[in-house]
Amino acid sequence: MSDRKPFYITTPIYYPSDNLHIGHAYTTVAADCSARFKRMQGYDVFYLTGTDEHGQKIERVAREKGVETKAYVDKIVANIKVLWEKLLITNDDFIRTTELRHEKAVQEIFQRIYDKGDIYKSVYKGWYCTPCEAFWTERQLVDGKCPDCERPVEMMSEESFFFAMSKYQDRLLKHIEEHPEFIQPESRRNEMVNFIKGGLEDLCVSRTTFQWGIPVPFQEGHIIYVWFDALTNYLTAIGFGSEPEKFERYWPCDVHLVGKDIVRFHTVIWPIILMAADLPLPKQVFGHGWLMLEGGKMSKSKGNVIDPLVLIDKYGVDAVRYYLLKEMTYGMDGYYSEDMLVSRINADLANDLGNLISRTAAMVGRYFDGIVPAPVEPDDLDRELKETAREAVLECEKQLDRIDYSAALGAIWRLVSRANKYIDETAPWVLAREEASRGRLATVIYNLVESIRIITVAAAPFMPTLPVRVNEQFSFFKDPERITWEEAKSWGLLVPGGKVHKKENLFPRVEADQHKKMNAKKEDKGPDKPAVEAAQNREGEYITIEDFARLDLRVAEVKAAEKMKKADKLLVLTLQVGDEERKVVSGIAPWYAPEELVGKKVVLVANLQPTKLRGVMSEGMILAASEGDRLEVLTLASDFPSGGKVR
Ligand code: MSP
Repeated sequence: MSDRKPFYITTPIYYPSDNLHIGHAYTTVAADCSARFKRMQGYDVFYLTGTDEHGQKIERVAREKGVETKAYVDKIVANIKVLWEKLLITNDDFIRTTELRHEKAVQEIFQRIYDKGDIYKSVYKGWYCTPCEAFWTERQLVDGKCPDCERPVEMMSEESFFFAMSKYQDRLLKHIEEHPEFIQPESRRNEMVNFIKGGLEDLCVSRTTFQWGIPVPFQEGHIIYVWFDALTNYLTAIGFGSEPEKFERYWPCDVHLVGKDIVRFHTVIWPIILMAADLPLPKQVFGHGWLMLEGGKMSKSKGNVIDPLVLIDKYGVDAVRYYLLKEMTYGMDGYYSEDMLVSRINADLANDLGNLISRTAAMVGRYFDGIVPAPVEPDDLDRELKETAREAVLECEKQLDRIDYSAALGAIWRLVSRANKYIDETAPWVLAREEASRGRLATVIYNLVESIRIITVAAAPFMPTLPVRVNEQFSFFKDPERITWEEAKSWGLLVPGGKVHKKENLFPRVEADQHKKMNAKKEDKGPDKPAVEAAQNREGEYITIEDFARLDLRVAEVKAAEKMKKADKLLVLTLQVGDEERKVVSGIAPWYAPEELVGKKVVLVANLQPTKLRGVMSEGMILAASEGDRLEVLTLASDFPSGGKVR
């Protein structure tokens, strides 16, 4: 066994009722990013994903298609495995709930809880949502429909085994209270605490009206409830009941990464199963937001699902992973559109990172015959760049540990921007004119190459092919597949004398359809039309759609506002942005009394770099119109939900 610290991370196991879409890909890419990061840090990582193959829903879908159930899921599972390969997912195991090892583990847990007296027989009468595979009481339904997916429910009445969940209610609440990190982000914890306090009922954990599942070991004709079966996968794959050493090593799990819709199953049913089976609880369940489309949820029935394979073929795996991880801000929903994806590729990847790499490689060629020069004495600008690199990597590490991929990327991109600005400030092309500034030029070029090395290492968990591709130009790494996180933290590791080969921009610009359309419209009008002339004359004053897309503007609700002590002009606002809470310091006290703002829906610049103002961390800025001495905060008149995107 390895003496490295273990780290066990899981995704939900996916229903192979249909091919997966970009929303499912998000969870798996996100967990993969964490797994790669932890491996780079030296952890002994076990990353698990798989498929949840039993249950009424799958049985019905296969029947509708006229295919035998196992044959049906086999085909979808094969497609899922291809998708994970294309997304360069580094899972250590792929569990299928139809495997024998899983059947044994589930039956063992079920038997253990039954023997303890926490599973008993009774009759279930109530509602069932087959798409969610969830039981609901009459009072939980919303307009007679499933409160989660809003689809019709079915009345169920059958003899079943019940799991005595209610008796664990207080113990679970106590655990959540004593382990604030158990349910994250915090807003989801609050939701779950309220749910549990509303009262837990015993759960029906067996069905008799269909066959596609794992049999109850001690009672013929009963099939174990699919969520009981599915959740247990997290134990099976690390050898519960079969490989005690492996099980001891990885359990309890470090983090179950799940979508917000299934947090309840993972933070109520799952911990109670574990308590009843006398097993430790996972350290954390993290519920991320959903990837939405303009028109709402992605769903097969709406015919609006986005196939990740098509996007990978079109834009490359690194770009698709970058977009997914950047777009979903902490705990909030993200929005997908191909235009936004293209904007991000052009702005963040082609413009910022790609150009930094191309410009630097070109300068090494032009000024030093393609050999990385040795630096001489640093000046203040160099020290600042080095400090930015140090902070960026530390911040990235911190954000990855709290599962905020978007903020982690934001930290790396602060270094990318700083390095680009450093080129403009040091103006190597001017230094190159004088032999006397040769040493200075060497330092500048070395620092730029070193920044690229550090950016490449830090970005590797997000964009796994980046180190390989950067290496083709800079030969930084002996083995680009085996770089360590430590290498990102060690400024100066770059050895002068290495050969640099300039190649094409690693991230070529994509011509956005939207731009093509806009151009076509302009051409229609003819080049001599005044509007077009005006547009051409004012070039430079405009920002592009990509520039605009970099702003993450969100609807936010003011939950609280107070005057900042000893600062006449400042108010400290507490904002609710989707599931997240933010503090923003705003200089609007001369125009607003704090209580006037509470309850208002305002517009927040959500991705503004946080900054400390009079000792308070301000995490964004709210928009206001101002003219002369008038000022009015922009508000939404409707009850538009907070977290919604403003574009
Ligand atoms: N089989 C259960 C999970 C059992 S885990 C013991 C299940 N499967 S699922 O295929 O429906 O969903 C799997 C995951 O995909 C969930 O975390 C869900 O939140 C996530 N997503 C499905 N659509 C999504 C988006 N549009 N956006 C982000 N994640 C989404 O539930």
